[in-house]
Amino acid sequence: MKTGIIGATGWLGSALGAGLLSRGIVQPGDLVLLNRSGPRPDYHGHADVIWARDVADLVAQSEVVVVSVRPEDWPGLDLRAAGRLVISFMAGVEAATLATCGGRIVRAMPNAAAEIGVSYSPFWAAEGVTEAERDTVRRLLSAIGTTDELEAEAQIDLMTALPGSGAAYPALMAVAMAGFMRAQGVADAIAWRAAEAAVIGGARLLEGRITEAPALLAAYRDYRGTTAAGLDAAESAGFSRAIEAALDAAADKARRMARGKA
Ligand SMILES: NC(=O)c1ccc[n+]([C@@H]2O[C@H](COP(=O)([O-])OP(=O)(O)OC[C@H]3O[C@@H](n4cnc5c(N)ncnc54)[C@H](OP(=O)(O)O)[C@@H]3O)[C@@H](O)[C@H]2O)c1
Repeated sequence: MKTGIIGATGWLGSALGAGLLSRGIVQPGDLVLLNRSGPRPDYHGHADVIWARDVADLVAQSEVVVVSVRPEDWPGLDLRAAGRLVISFMAGVEAATLATCGGRIVRAMPNAAAEIGVSYSPFWAAEGVTEAERDTVRRLLSAIGTTDELEAEAQIDLMTALPGSGAAYPALMAVAMAGFMRAQGVADAIAWRAAEAAVIGGARLLEGRITEAPALLAAYRDYRGTTAAGLDAAESAGFSRAIEAALDAAADKARRMARGKA
């Protein structure tokens, strides 16, 4: 299927292009690319992709158009894509606004892990998107990881806040943990390795079984050891409330972006 990517050399657009090519989901001759800075002689090891002259040329050559520019660049695009399936990666640009381009609209929310092919990229499809087109969306998003279809567009703002945040909250936790260790006199490199053991090594134990997290916490608490003391202190200091406040603020920012008030 002829697939166009607007923003093909950006963080997400480039990850999508790389994944589509390396997994053979789209052949190089069916991949139509556009960016701001101009064509590259080599695109993820391929010279035979198609570089569009401009947005209109990309639409003319594509059955599906992926919009992966920053939200603030959307108004200047002047996308006209009547009859096309249009998949937007943009946070805070609502379907009602996107629909002015005349296409059938899907919003997807990948995250930075797209770069390593493990993004969770839930999508929401507006009215008029067919079952076959939903399958196309799933196939294209499989190039960068996994996906689910969401029931309501409002949930895209929530996904922007959570999976869209990528490594931000693990990084925040790692900085706090390493900072504590350093403050106790632990050498810098060892402080970071200790934080890595908790944030990365610990997370690996939950990989593929995240729904078991409550049971794991209960087991730590039942043990009544040092970690139980730590968990209780974290909750008393507002750990869960802090996470809720963070996600609330991020989702609210996405909603305000949609209303042009961010
Ligand atoms: N990065 C994330 O983790 C993440 C997570 C969730 C959602 N998103 C959403 O994904 C979208 C893309 O984010 P990103 O981080 O990939 O942004 P980015 O790295 O800044 O890439 C933006 C891309 O858009 C291109 N571009 C800008 N204006 C253009 C125009 N008028 N015509 C054609 N191409 C144009 C740029 O071209 P040049 O390369 O030539 O400059 C670049 O390739 C954003 O809307 C963001 O909200 C991002």
